[in-house]
Amino acid sequence: MSVPFLDLGAATRELEADIGAAVARVIASGWYVGGPEVEAFEASWASHCGANHCVGVGNGLDALHLALKALGIGPGDEVIVASNGFIATLLGVSMVGATPVLVEPDPATHNLDPARIEAAITQRTRAILPTHLYGQPADLDAIRAIADAHGLKLIDDAAQAHGSRYKGKVIGGLADISCWSFYPSKNLGALGDGGAVTTNDPDLANRIRALGNYGSAVRYVNDERGVNSRLDPIQAAVLGLKLERLDEWNDRRRAIAAFYTEALAGTGLTLPHVPGWAEPVWHLYVVQSPDRDRLAARLGEAGVQTLIHYPIPPHRQRAYADLGHGEGSFPIAERLANSVLSLPIGPHLAMEDAERVAEAVRKACRG
Ligand SMILES: Cc1ncc(COP(=O)(O)O)c(C=O)c1O
Repeated sequence: MSVPFLDLGAATRELEADIGAAVARVIASGWYVGGPEVEAFEASWASHCGANHCVGVGNGLDALHLALKALGIGPGDEVIVASNGFIATLLGVSMVGATPVLVEPDPATHNLDPARIEAAITQRTRAILPTHLYGQPADLDAIRAIADAHGLKLIDDAAQAHGSRYKGKVIGGLADISCWSFYPSKNLGALGDGGAVTTNDPDLANRIRALGNYGSAVRYVNDERGVNSRLDPIQAAVLGLKLERLDEWNDRRRAIAAFYTEALAGTGLTLPHVPGWAEPVWHLYVVQSPDRDRLAARLGEAGVQTLIHYPIPPHRQRAYADLGHGEGSFPIAERLANSVLSLPIGPHLAMEDAERVAEAVRKACRG
């Protein structure tokens, strides 16, 4: 009996009839780019995030790219990002021609460590771009204080944190711009690519909308060079349906995470650390083991599928060789890359399967 890392089809099956009706509605509407489905989802997502504006875009990487571009960040500028995590955060910075400046995470939370940011600020720094990694909020107040003290913008990569709360406030309206991915495996995932930005600033929202529409706010009038990056109406309709389930599905993730944390105590593994002010949404449940590869192999033999988020830190990727950071330059990120292991989690993971996972982990840790 095997346990997959994530059964993506299960969410679709739960909503099958509603999704069929929503897709048929879009097809019948004649609106195949933009239109009422996109507007309705943008309004719902803005409201869920406690933000005044939401602009749908093509994917999470475009959200980062367009957010940075809308803030006027470009060649010669530096943007501070965490030295661990997914490559897309850096790629967004590179897409506007700016340079990602890496800062180590807090080893306990895996999120950008506010205590290390100031040392990385130079005359060229324009923004700080923390990620709420694995669905756990970064320490936004501490980061905002540093940003304000140095006149920097705060953009958050919220691609893994739909519904996550920081000091009781939902992520999405707390930074200058929040960037979202609706990649299918995300807590709020489409049936294909999708993304959005949320912000309280109407000018930034308008600018991002224009930039994602060839740089045009008025048809056939192009004030600047933009791209084509828009949220598809079929995906918007599906996301609207899934948004109604988001809180419930996040609660199911929380129950599994709480179970793992209890069941895996005493195994010797390092379990996720949640600061008192954080309400994570458990996009991933990540444990650490110095003997990670053996643990993953043992779990694989027991039929438990695991993944590594992420096995190579960005500064060790060939794509960023030009940053010139050799091995050992970011020891925390490197240690995390060598020790993290993500266990199966998702709103449709049956508790019996979570029990099987925990039993397999306990057994692997014993011998
Ligand atoms: C932290 C983070 N940032 C950015 C992205 C990019 O999003 P997308 O795949 O929609 O381009 C992802 C996910 O894929 C992500 O996990």
